Amino acid sequence: MKWLTTTLGTSIGKKLMMAATGLSFIGFLAVHLAGNLTLYGGADAFNSYAEHLHALGPLLGVAEFGLLGLFLIHVFSGLIIFWQNFKARPTRYAVNRNPGGKTIGSATMPYTGLLILMFILFHLTNFSRFFVDQGGTTIFQIVSTAFQNPVYVGLYVLAMVMIALHVSHGFWSLFQTFGLNHPKYMPAINTGGLILSLVFGLGFGFLPIYIAFIA
Ligand code: HEM
Repeated sequence: MKWLTTTLGTSIGKKLMMAATGLSFIGFLAVHLAGNLTLYGGADAFNSYAEHLHALGPLLGVAEFGLLGLFLIHVFSGLIIFWQNFKARPTRYAVNRNPGGKTIGSATMPYTGLLILMFILFHLTNFSRFFVDQGGTTIFQIVSTAFQNPVYVGLYVLAMVMIALHVSHGFWSLFQTFGLNHPKYMPAINTGGLILSLVFGLGFGFLPIYIAFIA
């Protein structure tokens, strides 16, 4: 554990931890999206996917615990970096420069991050087995009942815009942090980040709309 506190004690350490945990979340989002796409197959397909997931038993518990740890490191480091930058720069620069050029994604990172944190807490209280008693009902029923409420649909769609913005810059930024920022490859990395954010934004964002209005 000492290595973690030592790493988190330096600026570059915090950046590296943010990049590594951020990359893990991209992996989690890809797996979660792939699983959620079974919603298009209807109740049986989605329930069967959830049953297979829960059948992992203790392995799922370990993955969830690991995810929570990565999440706490990401949020904690992000908040400290935000606070240190804020303190070091009491008066705003006339021109706010980012080495990759200023984009909406880069300018809004701390804010989209905090909104995603709020979304995840809201999301877990809606759907997670830790907060919702799934006995006597199915996970498909829980999800489809939630998305009959237009407020939920609106909140989810907005949250997915936040996620798309966060990933669009985060993906680029993690390559910078890992030192893989060769000018020859940066345009491809930028495009990769854009495509990934569109896949997550549209992939997750269309699901509530589909459940509410089409299914
Ligand atoms: C339309 C979009 C989404 C839908 C329909 C959805 C659906 C679900 C469902 C049904 C569960 C509970 C799984 C179970 O207990 O069997 C869940 C868990 C979870 N979701 Fe989502 N999700 C969506 C988007 C997201 C996004 C964008 C994130 C992250 C930013 C996310 C993070 C999580 C986490 C961390 C869990 C807890 C995993 C666990 O308890 O094992 N979800 N989601």
